[in-house]
Amino acid sequence: MTQTAIIVGTQWGDEGKGKITDYLARDFDFVVRFHGGNNAGHTVVANGKTYKFFLLPSGVLSPGTVSVIGNGVVVDPKVLIGEINNFKVNNSAPNLKISERAHVIMPYHLLMDNGLGAGQGKLAAGSTGRGIAPVYADKAYRHGIRVGDLIEPELFKEKLEKSYYFNTQILTKVFRLPFERTIEDIYNEYLAYGQELLPYIHDTELDLYNAYAQKKSILFEGAQGMSLDPDQGMYPHGTSSNNVAGYASVGSGVGINEKSKIIGVAKAYVSRVGNSPFITELPENEAVYIREKGAEYGTTTGRARRIGWLDLVQIRQSVRTSGLSEIAFTKLDVLDGLKELKICMAYEIDGQITLEMPASLSKIRRAKPVYTTLPGWEDTDATTYETLPHNLRHYIEFVEKKINCHISFVSLGADRERTILRLR
Ligand code: IMP
Repeated sequence: MTQTAIIVGTQWGDEGKGKITDYLARDFDFVVRFHGGNNAGHTVVANGKTYKFFLLPSGVLSPGTVSVIGNGVVVDPKVLIGEINNFKVNNSAPNLKISERAHVIMPYHLLMDNGLGAGQGKLAAGSTGRGIAPVYADKAYRHGIRVGDLIEPELFKEKLEKSYYFNTQILTKVFRLPFERTIEDIYNEYLAYGQELLPYIHDTELDLYNAYAQKKSILFEGAQGMSLDPDQGMYPHGTSSNNVAGYASVGSGVGINEKSKIIGVAKAYVSRVGNSPFITELPENEAVYIREKGAEYGTTTGRARRIGWLDLVQIRQSVRTSGLSEIAFTKLDVLDGLKELKICMAYEIDGQITLEMPASLSKIRRAKPVYTTLPGWEDTDATTYETLPHNLRHYIEFVEKKINCHISFVSLGADRERTILRLR
């Protein structure tokens, strides 16, 4: 095992990263979220209970592991406090640290998300409405509020004045949306959040640096997936934080200078919540079977997910842009009982076959899938790789060969126990 491991999504999010993180967390001293906010929703089934995490790292179920919300994450303090309190109902307080440098989602960011979505028409990504784009924009504008500011009343006031002025001007004058909250009201509410979060707020970058220097092990938990990455994904149909593995250093402050395990999580089919071209999308009458069987509804918003066949162009791009050392292949059990399965091998664009995702959105809009069809299998009750149905093993090994990346985890259900390890 390497000292560090990074888990990332290879598709459009919702690949099952929470399950894989929880599965591995017990072997790590730290589990670190390094980007995104409560637009993410990670489902973990452990000890017969289903947990849904939005901001809490999926490592919180391992008491010996420290969970860290890194500087690259954007924190809605009200949501986080609710999640911590919920967690405490059935568990002891989470072993959690929150970076002082993480940015805070403010009430005006939430409203701004509505205004942005409405104005972007066909190019809108279909945001979860959690204020993600506005908070990352404020960070780039350099008038964002950071978690550490909430516990420094004078500094918070100074920063809030600048941020409030800018955002309310845009809200009321550009988007023409009414915004009733006064600066005093927001100031008092967020100072109170700061006090509630105080025991968890740390210089986590320094803590992680010291841990790394002492050879402690660190697992980085990515959110979303490669196609939502603002640089490598289907821009502008994505989110506002980078999710490729390289961002684990940026969003945690840990300069990783040794070989890391980089695990890409890929679902056996593809789902998409939100708007964008979706090259392997199934028509609704065919999608419904997989959606219902796979419970493909947004963890955060409850929206029905669009469903499509596995797209190897997408996964190969993730192998390349994250430097994946291996793949965790999930939800194969959802495909049980299907006669045939299609796999997208390449795209046809204007009569040309390409193995790579083009940067041009107009080319992506014109791309058609080039499919191979493989035979299906009956069921996946087996608990060892060798006793899995022949056609299922063939499916796994075919994909592995075509993406040129080892499939190390085969996940056949939500429970931790429904995971088969495949050594090289
Ligand atoms: P935002 O990050 O909420 O602004 O949403 C931007 C796009 O990313 C939308 O298409 C969302 O549906 C998508 N998105 C954001 N987070 C997730 C996630 O955790 N899973 C799946 N899609 C997501």
